[in-house]
Amino acid sequence: MKWMTMAPQLTMEPSILDVFKKHGRKLEYVEKKSALKNLMDKQEHGVLFYAMSDEQDGYDTCRNFQAIYPNLSVILIEAGVRVDLRQAMRAGALDVIALPFRPEQVEQLIIEREQHVERASQGNKETHYITVCSTKGGVGKTTFSVNLATAYSQKQESVLLVDLDLQFGDVSMFLDCEPKRSIYEWMKEANQKANAPVKSYITAYNEYLNILSAPLRPEFAEVFTPEHIQRLVEKVRGDYDVVIFDTAPYMDDIVLTALEHSDEIFLLTMQDLPTLKNCRLFLETLESLNLKNTLRVVLNRESRKRGVPLATAEKVLGLPITVQLPEASKLVCRSVNEGRPYVITNPKAKISKETINALQLQKGKSAKKSRPLFKALPAGR
Ligand SMILES: Nc1ncnc2c1ncn2[C@@H]1O[C@H](COP(=O)(O)OP(=O)(O)OP(=O)(O)O)[C@@H](O)[C@H]1O
Ligand SMILES: [Mg+2]
Repeated sequence: MKWMTMAPQLTMEPSILDVFKKHGRKLEYVEKKSALKNLMDKQEHGVLFYAMSDEQDGYDTCRNFQAIYPNLSVILIEAGVRVDLRQAMRAGALDVIALPFRPEQVEQLIIEREQHVERASQGNKETHYITVCSTKGGVGKTTFSVNLATAYSQKQESVLLVDLDLQFGDVSMFLDCEPKRSIYEWMKEANQKANAPVKSYITAYNEYLNILSAPLRPEFAEVFTPEHIQRLVEKVRGDYDVVIFDTAPYMDDIVLTALEHSDEIFLLTMQDLPTLKNCRLFLETLESLNLKNTLRVVLNRESRKRGVPLATAEKVLGLPITVQLPEASKLVCRSVNEGRPYVITNPKAKISKETINALQLQKGKSAKKSRPLFKALPAGR
């Protein structure tokens, strides 16, 4: 959002400039009308303070500027001539203020306008938050996250896939994208300005799937706090149908924050006892946090020939396995190497069908709903 003035009186007042600084904004001086096009693009939101020099001039300026820049609001300043409020209103002025400027008045204007634009730009979708996690590395979280996100996008659900493996995240590699900006640049801006938009930091994979990639360097992960993740969750609420967090293979405050804000948690496991036992411990943590009801266990690389039988796995976990993804080394390996999700390259393969079955569609679109999220197993099973 741009704040500009064609009234030099404003830029000469240090207390006014301080107010803009306090809100992380800069007041730019526009020397003449033709200079506005160097500062504004047509989609951008902006506010221009304009000092009325003669009766008609301000109203015409209001009308003309707003015809060219639909998201520009003009505040008329009574500098010498009286402003007719009715005419100002008809010309579409946002406000009229008299000299001398009072810092509190300008501050109020900044707050109200920024909130208004923020609200207007916020979508009204009922965002469904998903976290994909595990207690061990290499069990297939990223493979599943990327394909789940792609499958949602194929159903025309808008998806934001957030790479919360902040040190070694590789979501963008799985999708063969080269992000220019990441969650780290967003976080830095959000530290300075409450209104930092997430949209400027995402990379679009297709019309429906967007990625907020992990920091480009592992050391940047250290500066993240749970508050950043909480802020991110709130920032994107309403903008997407689905937000998916792919996570690191350990439990820390960042992952816990994502879990706490999730409507659905996918816990990935495999058919070996050490992984299953770790999962069991993790389930106890989820239970103590009251998060077990949103949990769905995904058994990845399922094989009848290798590993502990399914019934034993469920017994160790004390939970049913709700999604089973088969071992499909050749297909998955090719998909990862090519940076193309298997739900696109091999939609008919069993692993793709099982992934698509895991979708929880909100708009009554065609995929069938999966088994219930959580039901305790009968004792002794
Ligand atoms: N169903 C599957 N069949 C065969 N191979 C698979 C399957 N799922 C994942 N893999 C392979 O397992 C490896 C690890 O997958 P992935 O990177 O998705 O795991 P991860 O849990 O995200 O790992 P990390 O914890 O390191 O982030 C990849 O090489 C992938 O090709
Ligand atoms: Mg991963």
